[in-house]
Amino acid sequence: MNEFILRVIKDVSMIWRGVLLLSVVLLHSRCSDKLLTQGPPPGETTAEPMENPASIMSAFARGDEGFARIFKVSDGLGPTFNQPSCETCHPGDGRGTPQTTLVRFSINGDLVPSLGGPQLQDKSIPGVSPETVPVGAEVSVRMPPPVFGRGLVEAIPAETIIALADPEDRNGDGVSGRVNWVQPADFVPPGFVGSGPGLAIGRFGLKANISSLLQQVVSAYRDDMGVTSDFLAEESIHPSAGDLALSDRVPDPEIPTSEVLDVLMYIRTLAVPNRGEITDQVRSGEMIFTEIGCAVCHVPSLKTGPSPIPSLNEVDAPLYSDLLLHDMGPGLADNRADESADGYEWRTAPLMGIRLAPDNLGGTAHYLHDGRTSDIREAISAHGGEGQRSRDRYIALPVGDQDALVAFVLSL
Ligand code: HEC
Ligand code: HEC
Repeated sequence: MNEFILRVIKDVSMIWRGVLLLSVVLLHSRCSDKLLTQGPPPGETTAEPMENPASIMSAFARGDEGFARIFKVSDGLGPTFNQPSCETCHPGDGRGTPQTTLVRFSINGDLVPSLGGPQLQDKSIPGVSPETVPVGAEVSVRMPPPVFGRGLVEAIPAETIIALADPEDRNGDGVSGRVNWVQPADFVPPGFVGSGPGLAIGRFGLKANISSLLQQVVSAYRDDMGVTSDFLAEESIHPSAGDLALSDRVPDPEIPTSEVLDVLMYIRTLAVPNRGEITDQVRSGEMIFTEIGCAVCHVPSLKTGPSPIPSLNEVDAPLYSDLLLHDMGPGLADNRADESADGYEWRTAPLMGIRLAPDNLGGTAHYLHDGRTSDIREAISAHGGEGQRSRDRYIALPVGDQDALVAFVLSL
């Protein structure tokens, strides 16, 4: 080989060695950036406890493990289910992804339990078949919402929520808002917020169709994971799924009451993250938020009532929601009634902690009830029905004011 070619080879290999060295250095500095930090400062994640006495803090710690517990067939997972843990659908206690949505269905308003309704369990353990959506069913796709701050939602007095409702729109602002009165589950003991007898205010779920946090947790175990408890001790399985006796051999109830109650306490005392940086732009966005009527539904703060849990006792809850149902127009409609909520109505999405949604999910969050968009501006533009007037005023804003409004929302 002549000397010129040899030199070229040597130079090229030197260059490659340089590139390699540089990338090792870069990689190392990126890793060490990550490794050397102490984790996010307090208030910067969606998975932190509120300050409470030690007994509550230890229930929180146990509930944290329960929430993350991945159920196996031998623990009672299934026979049919959606996902094996709470955390799979609510990562970091925040919202889910298009891979973890739930589907609810009915036929002409009938919940069709004999066909597997009202929830599609699309996975199953060996020996049984997963469910499929029957032909002709009304279908509603639901993005898992965040679960932090829901203890505050539970602690808002009924009178406060009722006072916000204006079903006849007497004040003529184009926004009515009404309570979803629902039938509480009979396993919810008296004394729990949202227990019976009689109808109670629906607060939980995207159509506010569940009145108590205990019911929400217990039915998540049973219907989303196929895990029975003393509260709901029978598996939910439809007749054509297969032979229950041959598949799920774990005796019911599959988890003890204490595990349910610890997870309940965990959800109750998960803190709302701190606000982001309050810049001048954020301050002006906040004024616009009120001026153009966003705050009529996304009510910035509601006061909780008396609570035995100190962190929930008579505090200001920055929910950015009135917890009411609103007709959001045909664009957002799922055209499927749920308890007394109709196919156009949704509960005002609480905006608290929304700034951390993208961080929780590796950079991209999915907004609205079905997660149809990752663009917060599109989520705002999609408001119709009772939200139309406010949405039109947003669209008519100069670009700088739109940016300020978005900056404010992303500081919550
Ligand atoms: C398959 C995904 C999935 C799993 C698993 C799951 N959830 Fe959910 N969760 C959802 C969806 C979807 C909703 C909204 C339901 C609706 O509106 O129909 C929800 C709603 C909630 C809410 C109400 C939030 C609100 O804004 O009102 C709480 C609390 C909750 N889940 C807790 C839990 C707990 C605790 C577990 C485990 C025991 C769990 N979830 C398991 C998908 C899931
Ligand atoms: C009439 C009541 C109402 C008004 C007014 C209103 N919203 Fe909403 N907003 C809702 C409801 C209900 C939802 C949930 C809709 C859905 O999921 O389909 C929602 C959802 C959102 C979401 C998505 C939240 C999420 O977690 O995915 C954002 C962001 C939002 N609104 C911001 C705004 C802003 C900004 C304004 C003012 C321009 C506004 N909203 C005005 C009722 C309202």
